[in-house]
Amino acid sequence: MSTQQEIRRLTAPDIRARKNGDPIVALTSYHAHTARLVDKYCDVILVGDSLGMVMHGLETTVPVTLEMMILQGHAVMRGSQHALVVVDMPFGSYEASKEQAFASAARVLKETTCGAIKLEGGARMAETIRFLAERGVPVMAHVGLTPQAINTIGSFRAQGREEADWAAIENDAKAVSEAGAFSVVIEAVAEPLARKITGQIPIPTIGIGASSACDGQILVLEDMLGLSPRVPKFVKRYGDLGPGIEAAIKGYAAEVRSRAFPGPDHVYGMKAKKP
Ligand code: KIV
Repeated sequence: MSTQQEIRRLTAPDIRARKNGDPIVALTSYHAHTARLVDKYCDVILVGDSLGMVMHGLETTVPVTLEMMILQGHAVMRGSQHALVVVDMPFGSYEASKEQAFASAARVLKETTCGAIKLEGGARMAETIRFLAERGVPVMAHVGLTPQAINTIGSFRAQGREEADWAAIENDAKAVSEAGAFSVVIEAVAEPLARKITGQIPIPTIGIGASSACDGQILVLEDMLGLSPRVPKFVKRYGDLGPGIEAAIKGYAAEVRSRAFPGPDHVYGMKAKKP
């Protein structure tokens, strides 16, 4: 009999059931090694399309492709065993029609074996979310600031700054909830609005720059670790790894340049023959 305890991976219904329960802890990850670390402490790992900016140095998430998402989604699945892995649908892979969205989402679920997808947009995406949810695709929605819309909104500014703008964001959150999303990311909205929405809808809200009034929080891993060169103002840094990594690389480069780095003798247990 195996003494190994079986670890059950969290599912979209498990996360849905966390409404008004323990806060949902979520971070992004794009590769197996960080996924292994994040998996120990998080309920949700998002393979965000932010990988375009973080891994590839792009200015926006718009150029990210479905193939990029699938490749990194697969890596994160291999590195994790407990958290629900959610893979972002990139710009252009789901907006044209509900059929296009289903074809793209089906590829993501089949090729990565992740547990859910995320897509951006509120009321305008409700019909698509219903179509996907009714066909076996768990959908995490994303309202408030939706970075894939950068070319129409003009900047990554906080949303709902005036109370007059709140109704549209509230309406978006209600629409995705009624359409069958199992949770919704609310990005860059003021605390009173996040609190209001969280109290109004029956699915968990996961905030990013939206306060602790939400049912959980998500951050981009590299942002909170102090590895990203540009970080949104709302991000709290929990680490400052950039300087530590640079110091290690600098030390390594100096040792190689001065031929002062250790040889393999201690590993192979033999001394190099003297010429
Ligand atoms: O792409 C991403 O990382 C995201 C989070 C910022 C929510 O969508």
